[in-house]
Amino acid sequence: VGNGLAKTPQMGWNSWNYFACDINEKVIKETANALISTGLAKLGYIYVNIDDCWSEASRDSEGQLIPDSKSFPSGIKDLADYVHSEGLKLGIYSDAGAFTCQKRPGSLKHEYDDAALFASWGVDYLKYDNCFNLGIEPEKRYPPMRDAINATGHTIFYSLCEWGVNDPALWAGKIGNSWRTTNDINDSWASMTEIVDINDKWASYAGPGGWNDPDMLEVGNGGMTYQEYRAHFSIWALMKAPLLIGCDVRNMTAETFEIISNEEVIAVNQDALGVQGRKVLAYGPDGCYQIWAGPLSRHRLAVALWNRCSKIATITAKWAALGLESSTSVSVRDLWKHEFISPNSMSSFSARIDAHACEMYIFTPTMAIHSAT
Ligand code: DGJ
Repeated sequence: VGNGLAKTPQMGWNSWNYFACDINEKVIKETANALISTGLAKLGYIYVNIDDCWSEASRDSEGQLIPDSKSFPSGIKDLADYVHSEGLKLGIYSDAGAFTCQKRPGSLKHEYDDAALFASWGVDYLKYDNCFNLGIEPEKRYPPMRDAINATGHTIFYSLCEWGVNDPALWAGKIGNSWRTTNDINDSWASMTEIVDINDKWASYAGPGGWNDPDMLEVGNGGMTYQEYRAHFSIWALMKAPLLIGCDVRNMTAETFEIISNEEVIAVNQDALGVQGRKVLAYGPDGCYQIWAGPLSRHRLAVALWNRCSKIATITAKWAALGLESSTSVSVRDLWKHEFISPNSMSSFSARIDAHACEMYIFTPTMAIHSAT
């Protein structure tokens, strides 16, 4: 898309998964405050993104969008100023259709007015939804907003939310900074795992500037276990997915915070190489013993052993499956235990993995010592 953004996947928070339409400027400001006070902002979570329901049900007499006078009485510019004063960035939402999914006015055929308005407010990010699209192909509806944003002269992250319609990985790279590969996530193991498998198919299309978006995080919303949320976060990180927190960060449990603040896992997501890790092997009952991996900068490898079965199991990653030369020696860093572990062999790595758990590692090949003979 050429706006210079998204060198690594976007990180931040979005209102939808937890609050849905129950949002207001106080919630947004308190969320921004919480991102700062918890230290999450320092870890990279800088976008504070308002989703659907921020605007009035109709445009004003001049055809402009207006913030909902009850929930956002101070307006979006005020909010952007506030968020900026904390060193964060503000995201807004609209729809490439006649209405948003919650029946607020959409931006189809209002692209230039709306982009100019968002820019005048100092908005840094636009999520652009797909409801009430009048049956027009997304390939036709998403570029006009890119052009309108570019015409403002402001740099705005452009997040396509076309729900995977018409395989966006194939065409969205020139249009946006990320594109949704699937329908909406919900806060369940079934939804999360289904989405992962769809997103995986498009791995080769992701890279600096444009990422596959398997939707926002549900970590902390209550519908999955601790291990399932850890797996959700680990695989999102490895898949170079946007890390957009979807819970109420003002009231997180210690476990939720532990998961989303894991710096070593975040570093995999934000690695400069920008290659989406993928499922390299699924074996065992129904293929539920899974090995996911992807290259990192400095010849390292991110590796996840994910037990999608309902019983504890030993999962083994052979060097061949990981694309490592036989008898390569590696150091293994456990990203959840935060310690180096001694590899149990020179040709494979095995670990006991709890039901639904996902352990994540970085393998660093250690220099081979050649003795002169
Ligand atoms: C559908 C999107 O996919 C969701 O992420 C959310 O933005 C809702 N619409 C809002 O109505």
